[in-house]
Amino acid sequence: MAFAYRAGQLCAEDVALEDLARRYGTPCYVYAQSAIERAYREFAAAFEGRRALVAYSVKANANLAVLALMARLGAGFDIVSGGELARVAAAGGAMDKVLFSGVGKRESEIAQALAAGVLCLNLESEAELARVEAVAARLGVRAPIAFRVNPDVDPRTHPYIATGLRDNKFGVAWDDALRLYRQAARLPHVRVVGIGCHIGSQLLDVAPFAEAAARLRALVEALAADGIALSHIDLGGGFGVRYRDEAPPSPAEFVRAALEALGPRAETIVVDPGRALVGAAGVLLTRIEYVKPAGAKNFVVVDAAMNDLLRPALYGAWHEVLPVREPRAGETLTVCDVVGPVCESADVLARERRLAPRAGDLLAIMTAGAYGMAMSSNYNTRPRPAEVMVSGATARLVRRRETVEELFAHEVALAC
Ligand code: LLP
Repeated sequence: MAFAYRAGQLCAEDVALEDLARRYGTPCYVYAQSAIERAYREFAAAFEGRRALVAYSVKANANLAVLALMARLGAGFDIVSGGELARVAAAGGAMDKVLFSGVGKRESEIAQALAAGVLCLNLESEAELARVEAVAARLGVRAPIAFRVNPDVDPRTHPYIATGLRDNKFGVAWDDALRLYRQAARLPHVRVVGIGCHIGSQLLDVAPFAEAAARLRALVEALAADGIALSHIDLGGGFGVRYRDEAPPSPAEFVRAALEALGPRAETIVVDPGRALVGAAGVLLTRIEYVKPAGAKNFVVVDAAMNDLLRPALYGAWHEVLPVREPRAGETLTVCDVVGPVCESADVLARERRLAPRAGDLLAIMTAGAYGMAMSSNYNTRPRPAEVMVSGATARLVRRRETVEELFAHEVALAC
């Protein structure tokens, strides 16, 4: 277990969170390196004997230390912006393992990706195909492309993170895919190399994932019959993790179901997990500022807020909250809402939890390694949290806390 109580203290690997709070202050994201490594190896092992690429979805947590760790493990990268591409390069990631997705790539981003030599651009519209052809022609290169097709499969997840349904902005419509591939195959400055899909995030059932794989297989076979051979099939990410009492299938179960649906094939199989690689590996460490009784419950006002961890406010997401000092047996627990200082009613990190809160105590908001820091903002002019990577007994700061001055350093106070 990456996070566990030892001698009454919640620890990240072999380091007490209490010590980290003292050293780096709060709020602070703490990542356990071993948990990331374990999760990556689970995916890699699931593909044993198959040509495969596990491409980490950078959007989940883009800290350079996380990216460099992924690069060392041999991961590829699923990116959605020129900014993410620059991060992967800065972290030493292999450009020929980068897949560039996203519905709105700018010309400059396409040029940047082609110059870097990425594995593939995942195209999401006919207009984007035309743009990539034009940019590649200007640069005198052939752009490696895939289409992200929309398999119209219901992922049975939160509507905000379902992406593979017909009325979604993502991907090209299933019925247009063949025509677009034929069109792309005739263009002089693109090279058709793959196909991709992504049906949604926090999947808790292998069936829709396997169904999407089966649909891709039918399309790949139709393309082959047309003389369009592909090098890879990208099944997307979306593998669910346990936040509360969910029982997500293991990576091996997802992969097995998909490989069965695909049958024996020569193409490299790509997956792009984000959350499943880093979610459980991170916690948001926060200190209680005040305990404010309000009728039957307490408001526990902490120094972290929705700007640091947006998921509860945005999705109604549930994150476990653990006291850093292990509760004693028989301690009186009260029902508490854990809230931040931001001036929004939605600034609630956790509702109706049974805690024994005292001002000054530390809380750990669990499973916050994915889409935590990555979705943070400076709302209310709050410097974002520091980030710390723990490996065994060693803790290292991997992003220092911002200073307030940095937050407005790019602004101009007009004199009149
Ligand atoms: N591949 C593609 C094409 C994607 O769009 C996404 C996520 C992933 C892979 C990675 O999905 P994952 O394995 O992490 O589920 N902010 C939301 C999640 C948004 C996911 C968007 N796309 C959250 O906090 O739950």
